[in-house]
Amino acid sequence: MLENILKQDKFTKEDIKFLLGLTDENDRKKLFKAAQKVKLEHIGDEVYYRGLIEQSNLCVKDCLYCGIRKSLPVERYELEFNDVVESAVFAFEQNYGSIAIQTGERQDKKFIDLIERILIEIKKRTNGKLGVTLSLGEQTYETYKRWHDAGAHRYLLRIESSSRELYYTLHPNDDLHNYDKRLQCLRDLERAGYQVGTGFLIGVPGQTLDNLANDILFLKEWDIDMVGMGPYVIQKNTPTGEVVLNQDLNTPEKIKARYDLAINMIAVARVVLKDVNIASTTALQALSDTGREDGINAGANILMPLMTLAEHRKKYQLYDDKPFSSAAELDLKIGYGKWGDSPHFANRQKNKIAY
Ligand code: 5AD
Repeated sequence: MLENILKQDKFTKEDIKFLLGLTDENDRKKLFKAAQKVKLEHIGDEVYYRGLIEQSNLCVKDCLYCGIRKSLPVERYELEFNDVVESAVFAFEQNYGSIAIQTGERQDKKFIDLIERILIEIKKRTNGKLGVTLSLGEQTYETYKRWHDAGAHRYLLRIESSSRELYYTLHPNDDLHNYDKRLQCLRDLERAGYQVGTGFLIGVPGQTLDNLANDILFLKEWDIDMVGMGPYVIQKNTPTGEVVLNQDLNTPEKIKARYDLAINMIAVARVVLKDVNIASTTALQALSDTGREDGINAGANILMPLMTLAEHRKKYQLYDDKPFSSAAELDLKIGYGKWGDSPHFANRQKNKIAY
């Protein structure tokens, strides 16, 4: 059964559910092997770095699971223009190829202008050679367009869950946390010309394999170029964290199950979507010392080493025990100095012209 499914080129929802639900270690190895093969065929064997700069933990949102949600009384910080630019130039000098700028969400003019100025300066200082991914939440089309014109070319905006119902168990049901707005943003990003990334929280209370299979299908339907997803990691003093503790869902067995499921999701995303970029995310590393490598072995091809200045790292705490290490001495073939764009994006552009 497993062998036959893995031989296929196209997968039904039932196939996807079956693969996601694998728990036997030998079976999982077969899945990862198939994912590696697809990766080699469609992406190659290189892994690309995105130096991650967490510019600020200020946030207007109150997502129920998040460690920097507005209503948590954490110390807030903001990196200045020069700090971000210098970190980016440092990444460039280290031959990283690309950076990713991430923040809590803000839509005020001061912030929008600051990001635009930062992008223009980074492009100037690196002769347009440093690739830039943004992960700055929901914005208007005009803002996305301005940042794209200023030099950003990839954007990550996780949908967190493609199930509307589950989405509202993870977010307050109000204008600021609107599922349809999130979908509109993904459309706007595409229209503004970005390579578009999205992804999910894996292992949140109430989530089923059916939900996760739909998440994989969502990536396909939405023609997504890049995937960033990871296991839920508990953050104390948050509504989701309370639910997890009350339902006794934070035992070592449950945590391991979330971790394994997140690794399965990477492998299944690879075999189903084939030519997209998939990140091996920090949340994996938070749950296991071998998190990043396990993600790569399951089919991921992107690593995001942390470049945030040491003094601020502890404040960008999305969940408990978020790892702060940027050490990247891994036995991997790194695509130094290359942007490492998602081939899916180029293929998508070709198809557009062909029709
Ligand atoms: N566990 C795992 N990931 C989290 N994120 C936020 N809080 C958590 C958590 N408790 C992720 C969300 C968000 C990204 C910036 O961090 O998916 O999109």
